[in-house]
Amino acid sequence: MYGIIGKSPRMQKLYKMIERVAPATSTVLIQGDSGTGKELIARALHRISPRKDQALVAVNCGAIPEDLLESELFGHVRGAFTGAAHARVGRFELASGGTLFLDEIGDMSPKLQVKMLRVLQEKVVEPVGSTKSIKVDVRVVAATHKNLEKEVTAGRFREDLFYRLNVVPLHVPPLRDRGADIILLADYFLEKCEKEMGYDKVDVSKDIHNIFLNYSWPGNVRELENLMERLTVLADGAISIDDLPAKLLDGSHSNGDANQPIPASAFSVGASISEGFDFNKEVASFENQLILSALNSTDWNKNKAARLLNLNRTTLVEKIKKKGLEKLES
Ligand SMILES: Nc1ncnc2c1ncn2[C@@H]1O[C@H](COP(=O)(O)OP(=O)(O)OP(=O)(O)O)[C@@H](O)[C@H]1O
Ligand SMILES: [Mg+2]
Repeated sequence: MYGIIGKSPRMQKLYKMIERVAPATSTVLIQGDSGTGKELIARALHRISPRKDQALVAVNCGAIPEDLLESELFGHVRGAFTGAAHARVGRFELASGGTLFLDEIGDMSPKLQVKMLRVLQEKVVEPVGSTKSIKVDVRVVAATHKNLEKEVTAGRFREDLFYRLNVVPLHVPPLRDRGADIILLADYFLEKCEKEMGYDKVDVSKDIHNIFLNYSWPGNVRELENLMERLTVLADGAISIDDLPAKLLDGSHSNGDANQPIPASAFSVGASISEGFDFNKEVASFENQLILSALNSTDWNKNKAARLLNLNRTTLVEKIKKKGLEKLES
């Protein structure tokens, strides 16, 4: 769908949401870890909306200093501040009739959060240094890699603005929760390297696929994309396990031999335990790794895998279904 690769249940659910909300003018808040594809989704939303022939204007709220961001968003009149030799039209006005993509909204300063709330509620902007309001017709799509609910609890993000933005929430799942999509994406990026850089498409063996499936991908799709480019450039036709960065091998123990025990102590925590650590997410990801390892080393024989994990077969089957884990066809 619009260059978004993936067929896992989590992604299909997301596509349905995108299609449902695209025609509306409601504000959409896209949340997901870094590199999960939030910008790609924002662009897809615009492209299937009735506003597709109008502008999609993107602003990275995290990359621009507060004062500059204010005039960037709302514009300024001539002489509004030192150096403002000419009046400037803000991005809100430029996006009128179209979509404004406010990326990294979680990084917006408290002062601008107040202004933003007003604009969203009243649908008018006031350029810096002006007392005149300008009406704007903008569909706002905001994104952040931060957990905004947590930011609200911590007092760093205004609750009223959060609710105003979060009219339609979209959650983009981390790559490690997308099962066989990892392989689809790897293949897609290898093909892209072939087309764009003129390299022959490299071969990836089933063993390497299993390593990909067991890795936690803290950098998500961006990490996979960069790795595929690196492998294309470095590998001579086929990728061997030695070509992979060591971190990919740390948590991976699928060797296709069901009699080989899998040392659980060898699995690693995907994220370091620091600010933003999400206990439930890490536990779920660790569970995925254990289940996939057991399944891959028993060639997806659920009876054997359940025995290996010392789980009831029904419990295992339920977990596989709930997590949307899929066998990779090769
Ligand atoms: N499902 C997907 N199919 C194809 N390409 C994808 C997919 N998801 C992400 N990408 C690619 O991965 C890269 C990162 O995606 P994107 O910039 O949209 O992520 P992001 O969530 O905005 O990241 P950040 O939080 O770091 O800004 C881009 O090159 C994008 O095209
Ligand atoms: Mg982004």
